[in-house]
Amino acid sequence: MTLQQKLESRLATAVAAVLGEPAAAPVVPVADLRFGDYQSNAAMVLAKQRKTNPRALAGDIIGRLDLTGLATAEIAGPGFINFRVLPEAFAARAEALLRDERLGVPATGAGRTVVVDFSAPNVAKPMHVGHIRSTIIGDSLARVARFLGFNVIADNHIGDWGTQFGMILHGWKTLLDRDALTKDPIAELVRVYREINASAKADPAVMDLCKAELVKLQAGDPENLGIWQQCIDVSKQGLQKIYDRLDVRFDHWLGESYYNDRLPGLVDEFLAKGLARESDGAVCVFSDGAKKPEDDPFMVHKEGGWTDNPAIIRKADGGFLYATTDLATIQYRIDEWKADHVWYVVGVPQQLHFRQVFEAAERWGKRGDFRHVGFGSILGEDRKLMRTRSGENVGLTDVLEEAVERAAAVIAEKNPDLAPDEAAEIAETIGIGAVKFAELSQNRLTDYVFAWDRMLALQGDTAPYLQYSHVRIRSIFRKLEGPCDLSGQRVALGEDAEIHLVRMLTRFGEVVPSVLDDFRPNLLANYLLDLARAFHSFFEACPVLKAEEPARGSRLALCELTSRVLSKGLDLLGIRVPERM
Ligand code: ARG
Repeated sequence: MTLQQKLESRLATAVAAVLGEPAAAPVVPVADLRFGDYQSNAAMVLAKQRKTNPRALAGDIIGRLDLTGLATAEIAGPGFINFRVLPEAFAARAEALLRDERLGVPATGAGRTVVVDFSAPNVAKPMHVGHIRSTIIGDSLARVARFLGFNVIADNHIGDWGTQFGMILHGWKTLLDRDALTKDPIAELVRVYREINASAKADPAVMDLCKAELVKLQAGDPENLGIWQQCIDVSKQGLQKIYDRLDVRFDHWLGESYYNDRLPGLVDEFLAKGLARESDGAVCVFSDGAKKPEDDPFMVHKEGGWTDNPAIIRKADGGFLYATTDLATIQYRIDEWKADHVWYVVGVPQQLHFRQVFEAAERWGKRGDFRHVGFGSILGEDRKLMRTRSGENVGLTDVLEEAVERAAAVIAEKNPDLAPDEAAEIAETIGIGAVKFAELSQNRLTDYVFAWDRMLALQGDTAPYLQYSHVRIRSIFRKLEGPCDLSGQRVALGEDAEIHLVRMLTRFGEVVPSVLDDFRPNLLANYLLDLARAFHSFFEACPVLKAEEPARGSRLALCELTSRVLSKGLDLLGIRVPERM
């Protein structure tokens, strides 16, 4: 049990004794240590319900509270109960963590299946910075969920079907450069797409040719299907390289095209069940009037009044849409995968789309916990949307290349004696870690400014700082002669800096589950920074190898735990730790 859980259970017992019935009594960690380690507002909430005095109730609860060996408690302000954990309780917890592979993280997700829908770039269009955010955040959420014991299905719902293929097919047949395709398939497809797009805009005759290719593809023309398949294959290979480099993995790549066969039947079913109706030849899902208009995704406020804002699931020309595919996808995930949760890591601009799809799915009887995990934009240092010099969206590969190059320069300066191979490997780990951490340490909903120097700084709120902290701890162990088994080590805490380090170590088991409350990897990222700072203060205040026993063994154990929590925590963010740097 985490310290938080222990306090909650003891508090619950005391509350039940005072009130004569059980009641919810949550305990939360407090940020400001002057108030103690944990706090509960239970007395205030319960007093309000029962119309009694909160401070008096808090006093009664504390009177019944058995905190032996665990903490002290006091009333604060209008009726908060503040807990201060005893050093011996921290020490006992640290000893338990040394023997615990999970480092105190409970398996809160056991028995549940979650589909994480992330990355999902569009074939033949470059992966842009929005896809970077989705890829990095989604991968981290999948890692956290896996560690919490969820059955995680990471699904890359790539955009592999759509009107862009009219242009790509025409371009493939008229201006494809085979050598370039072999060298860098994604870049060549994007080039072809851009050129045809430009000429189609300028010349309606080209546009007509593209449309004709698209119609042939949709009708199942074998030649066009063959080309389409090749586009998908080379794009997937190109993407896989990026994912390998990023250390991101998927269990499935069920792109949009996977659901094509299901779409006609889905629309028929929606019509037959009265879930959708025809409007101007199109088939649409409308409001059912059950919600207030401001909460209804099928209503929109326009010109002073509420009007219909239906989701189209079949166009008048018979074509299907993004929403149709997403409904078929939900059906598959619920029926075939038995998903309890589906998390869509997609930019905020698609919010309305997901609200409509979730609501339509629910009416259709596909029940599950569907969440749109949105995020804002990445801005360049000029605070405008990030673009390359020629004004195009910045591709993910460019960002990674530049990060690794810059990391290599930093390493060459700090540690010029490293062998070139090792230096290159470390630069990769640091450069990519820096990009990921810069993303994950932000609140996902705010736009964030991409600043190279800030994200690579060794002294700052950065991945390199955390990686360096880990390296520094491992170097302590390298100085030891022979192996060192700390699993049964006794922990004795004297100095404030030691106690604070253990306080931070014990919070790991509380922070990791909290990441999923509102899908905020930044809670974990910022926790790791606090932990590293606590370690550095400890390391300055307390000698380790030069200390006498029993302090020496105890402090070594704290070093060991810190390095394990740092590396596990970074792993949950998808960031590797180098051995040296
Ligand atoms: N391909 C889409 C895009 O790039 C994202 C797909 C997200 N997933 C989904 N099930 N709709 O905008």
